[in-house]
Amino acid sequence: MAVRCEQVRLAGYTTLRLGGPARCFVEATTDDELIDAVGRADREGEPVLVLGGGSNLVVADEGFAGTAVHVATRGVTTGPGGPRDAGRGVTTTPGGSRDGRVLVRARAGEEWDPFVARCVEEGLSGVECLSGIPGLLGATPIQNVGAYGQDVSETIVEVRAYDRERGEVVVLDRDACRFGYRSSAFKGAHRHVVLEVTFALEHDDLSAPIRYAELARTLGVDPGERVPLRDAREAVLGLRRGKGMVLDPADPDTRSAGSFFTNPILDPDQVTDLEKRVADRLGAGAVFPRYPEPDGRTKTSAAWLIDKAGFTKGYGRGPVRISTKHALALTNADGGRTEDLLALAREVRDGVRAAFGVTLVNEPVFVGVRL
Ligand code: EPU
Repeated sequence: MAVRCEQVRLAGYTTLRLGGPARCFVEATTDDELIDAVGRADREGEPVLVLGGGSNLVVADEGFAGTAVHVATRGVTTGPGGPRDAGRGVTTTPGGSRDGRVLVRARAGEEWDPFVARCVEEGLSGVECLSGIPGLLGATPIQNVGAYGQDVSETIVEVRAYDRERGEVVVLDRDACRFGYRSSAFKGAHRHVVLEVTFALEHDDLSAPIRYAELARTLGVDPGERVPLRDAREAVLGLRRGKGMVLDPADPDTRSAGSFFTNPILDPDQVTDLEKRVADRLGAGAVFPRYPEPDGRTKTSAAWLIDKAGFTKGYGRGPVRISTKHALALTNADGGRTEDLLALAREVRDGVRAAFGVTLVNEPVFVGVRL
């Protein structure tokens, strides 16, 4: 376990390239090192920041007055009780199944997209629409990562985690994870450090049914149809690239934390209020995007509200701007500061509230800052 206390700048570990130094920085390459680093800091009363791929993180310019523990544990395997250090590929062992699905177990420090790519290559269906998402696998249960009609709550069956309160390793089943839209029992609680995630995937060369209208259109199928896994992956990667949502050092629009705000979910009276405000602002025929939720509420599009409130793509000052490809991503070209990014985020939030009466909530995790 490498421990460095020479002020490692966290900017180098975030996709936004923002954030000051951590007091101490630990690189944990095994579960034991990870548990040891977090457990020891907890016993000493030292604040802990568990650092994954940094793709959903906004860190203060002042940095983090505690120990950042970088998760660098690796290993993907399948089957309950199967070998936990089976090396780099997605290996299948007999008995590793549930309801006819193949169980794939992966350590938190695995990079998410190569994991998806391997599943697609090996004919394991269920995560293909989550292609091109940056970050580490261990972060996916925390905010129930989702895109293009799929989210990880559909395939995660178990999360093995270090429980900081009890000081022991625990296993949470799907119910205990309490998944919701971009949320889970883990989000904001900081009680658990994810060590390993088990997915149940179909052994099938076809994708799960395509649910996202834009993706179905791109693939030339009707919603509900299935397509070869590779086609689904390629189509999602193409769509994400077009929105600046696939990391690319040559594309400054990808220096972001993905969607900066969650899509608001509105009660019926908020819907009525929004209808009125949209008509007042944009004319009687104007309609806003509506995605019905199972509980009767309505999800709308934060990107649409931002656009229509007057914050067009590319809006901003200096290096900190709204992406030129997607209104929901805030980006930092070279030389920006977290404070500038937050000033822009506040301006957007306040402008959308003034125009439409809806208060946007940040989606990335904030460290040492608030909106
Ligand atoms: N839109 C605009 N302006 C834009 C972009 C989009 O008005 O600049 C409107 C359009 O009406 C469009 C609608 O917003 O139809 C939805 O846009 P999009 O399909 O890009 O999806 P999103 O709701 O903005 C969500 C997730 C993304 C995920 C995509 C695809 C959240 C907060 N974001 O974005 O996830 O990739 O759907 O499934 O739920 C992330 O969480 O970081 C993320 C990138």
